[in-house]
Amino acid sequence: MNKIAVIGLGYVGLPLSLQFAQSGVSVLGLDIDPAKVEDCNAGRSYIKHIPGATIADALKRGAFSASKDFSRVREVDAVLICVPTPLKKNREPDISYVLKTGEAIAPHLRRGALVVLESTTYPGTTDENLREVLERGSGLKAGADFHLAYSPEREDPGNPDSKIAEIPKVIGGFTPACLEKAKALYARAVKTLVPVSSCRAAEATKLLENIFRSVNIALVNELKVVYAAMGIDVWEVIHAAKTKPFGFMPFYPGPGLGGHCIPIDPFYLAWKAREHGQHTRFIELAGEINTAMPEHVVHRLAEALAARKTPLDRSRILLLGLAYKPDVDDMRESPTFALLDLLKNRGAEVAYHDSHIPVIRPTRERGHWTGTKSVEWNEKTVRSFDAVLIATAHKAVNYQQLADWCDCIIDTRNAMAAVKTRAGTVWKA
Ligand SMILES: NC(=O)c1ccc[n+]([C@@H]2O[C@H](COP(=O)([O-])OP(=O)(O)OC[C@H]3O[C@@H](n4cnc5c(N)ncnc54)[C@H](O)[C@@H]3O)[C@@H](O)[C@H]2O)c1
Repeated sequence: MNKIAVIGLGYVGLPLSLQFAQSGVSVLGLDIDPAKVEDCNAGRSYIKHIPGATIADALKRGAFSASKDFSRVREVDAVLICVPTPLKKNREPDISYVLKTGEAIAPHLRRGALVVLESTTYPGTTDENLREVLERGSGLKAGADFHLAYSPEREDPGNPDSKIAEIPKVIGGFTPACLEKAKALYARAVKTLVPVSSCRAAEATKLLENIFRSVNIALVNELKVVYAAMGIDVWEVIHAAKTKPFGFMPFYPGPGLGGHCIPIDPFYLAWKAREHGQHTRFIELAGEINTAMPEHVVHRLAEALAARKTPLDRSRILLLGLAYKPDVDDMRESPTFALLDLLKNRGAEVAYHDSHIPVIRPTRERGHWTGTKSVEWNEKTVRSFDAVLIATAHKAVNYQQLADWCDCIIDTRNAMAAVKTRAGTVWKA
């Protein structure tokens, strides 16, 4: 397997392509977005933590190129699918991107080729939904004429220590031969492989990992509220608890869940479980607690403002951090959007500052904020707001300046802990 195609050149597909390209495999990147294809072929990166030079180098060596022409799948030995798997409005899984990709590649699939789905999804997507589309469009049989597997991505965006080659990769095959084929491919680029018995077991593994995060974040979010009512700081408690050398793993509270994975993936399982007559109570409860967090934060903000005799509906609020996690430029599902909406609906004047996101790009669900610009970071601007709400704790922010310039700071991330602040100016939320 010397030539592969990676479909979907986003946060998952682009770094994966480059890892294979660095490992002696020739990679054809396929995407329906012409701007991404053009950027890739010009050696330009559109993802902050991926240097353009890495793409340019792979292009120069002839190890990577991008295209919109899906018929070129006939040139490759393997196809890795990394397209979006969002939720529909009513929280049902939307696997249409996966199925459309299947339809687009099926007529061009080579006999003996390997197809691997990497997108996060519910058990059964690969060996049932995707398999049907591929078999129908190609006239070939999975497990006999072509190989089929599922291998979830474990990307940690923004973490410089997170290297694809070093992160163990779970793989499940449609048949034992499919698994062997997939292992042979991934062994070229990834050090440790974790084979499991089926595509479904691999799909379920990825969901467990993300449900685990969602449930534990909900737990600390609930404890944040409970402990605050008792006058106890949950951050102090977590820092103490994490000194336990076994049986504890720290999770941190915040203003709500964000990103393309944790707020979405658990509901893929909740939906599929219903088909089997099963209820996923932990998932629902965690979802309920986590989605209530923006309301809780706004409530704390209103309290802080009331203490200063400023009504919320006549206040000017600056939200600090639009990206859903520190030091990245990814704003998908960011709870800051929920905060912006809640505050605006209550009559407050709102703005945001995020040096990683100078302007809000179009989004499917928060289109009304498209084009809004990050305000400048300077004393005059910051002082012009009644309160600053820290939603994401980017390292790029000078929190000492914030402490000096602002008398009312709502801190959802414990970002002010290491800063010299004046009494009564910081409200944890
Ligand atoms: N971002 C993460 O950290 C992360 C981590 C693990 C798993 N995942 C999962 O990986 C998958 C991809 O996520 P992402 O963050 O890379 O998404 P993304 O939106 O960054 O990238 C998806 C890419 O697919 C392209 N695309 C959409 N429809 C297509 C089609 N029909 N054919 C070809 N290309 C198409 C888009 O143009 C885009 O470039 C999702 O299932 C996600 O849940 C993401």
